[in-house]
Amino acid sequence: MYLSQSLILSFFASQVAAAGVVGEAFGFAKGTTGGGSAEPVYPNDIKELTGYLTDNEPRVIILQKEFNYIGSEGEVTEDGCRPASNTCPGNGGQDAINGANWCNGQPTVSVTYDKAGTSAINVGSNKSIVGEGTSGVIRGKGLRIANGAKNVIIQNVHITELNPQYIWGGDAITIVGAGGQIWIDHVKTSLIGRQHIVSGYAPSNGITISNTEIDGNTSWSASCDNRHYWALLLIGQGDKITFQNNYVHHTSGRSPKVGGTGEGTLLHAVNNYFYDNSGHAFSIAAEENGRVIAEGNVFEKVKKPIEDGDSKMFAPQDAQTAAACESPLGYKCEVNVLSGSGTLTGSETSFLGDAKGEGVTPVPASEVAASVKANAGVGKL
Ligand SMILES: *[C@@H]1O[C@H](CO)[C@@H](O)[C@H](O)[C@H]1NC(C)=O
Ligand SMILES: *[C@@H]1O[C@H](CO)[C@@H](O)[C@H](O)[C@H]1NC(C)=O
Repeated sequence: MYLSQSLILSFFASQVAAAGVVGEAFGFAKGTTGGGSAEPVYPNDIKELTGYLTDNEPRVIILQKEFNYIGSEGEVTEDGCRPASNTCPGNGGQDAINGANWCNGQPTVSVTYDKAGTSAINVGSNKSIVGEGTSGVIRGKGLRIANGAKNVIIQNVHITELNPQYIWGGDAITIVGAGGQIWIDHVKTSLIGRQHIVSGYAPSNGITISNTEIDGNTSWSASCDNRHYWALLLIGQGDKITFQNNYVHHTSGRSPKVGGTGEGTLLHAVNNYFYDNSGHAFSIAAEENGRVIAEGNVFEKVKKPIEDGDSKMFAPQDAQTAAACESPLGYKCEVNVLSGSGTLTGSETSFLGDAKGEGVTPVPASEVAASVKANAGVGKL
């Protein structure tokens, strides 16, 4: 009796010690604590999960299973449209739900979709959402950090199946008008209808996206080639985003698109592995104020590493160009490496100092493909 009691106690002690966030936020989200040392909670169903995510308590929310929202809000059949991009209707293309009146003037088709996917869960402040092993899956609904919510960590969670057959079917992670301190780490997104991650236009301040897998492999592609077009849209006003050690693969555009009005978004893309992209990786909206520092990245089988708008891009490919970081940032940037890819350009240095004090440590691109493949995504904490 005494022995088994102490065994049970030590089992619980080790479980509590093991539960929660692994590692610490760095880069522009440095200092993010999420739910901090709150007693972990273990939701049993989607109602409990939504409750913990949206209430006003600091929470460490551990996901030990899949939470399937598909069907929970019913199904909708209505008029959508067939955009010109869908050159393969019924055979791997993407039709559109009429989100934000996007369909305006395009040929009407009937669309049937799951309602839960089209609106996300509004996550409150001071939350850590952490999956256990590969068990933490949210199916059919995304997460949204908005309206001043801040200090949120999403770690080791797979968000999937948001009406992937339809443009406007849903976004996996939305950040709009958040109060800053948002750390997305070891997340995986797959089979998303619209954006995998979207920020803006309202400002959200400091964000870090690290060790995350953006899996664009899909049977419904706006480019009709099994690759998702709407991967990452980062257009917050004055946002600063560290984007490090991520694996972005099987996409065909917006990987990422960067912009934003006012001050626009400053993106530091460092040590990412961009693989198999049949369209463009970077696109910087010329009429907006997005700025990108891209260093130590690997582009492999990327048709267009940059689409257009390279006037606000710094993307060194030789040591001499990379040396420009030394005075504004205090270190030499790492060069980017391309193989089987199109042309990368971008030599603007005027905004390098905007990333001063970010506090990241790049590694040479030669180490990136292997380490990102081994470490990015879920189940690898
Ligand atoms: C989040 O935590 C901060 C710091 O402890 C606190 O000031 C704030 O009120 C919390 N917000 C919510 C919504 O609990
Ligand atoms: C894409 O997903 C399909 C269906 O799950 C799978 O059979 C295929 O191997 C995947 N392709 C790639 C390149 O990951």
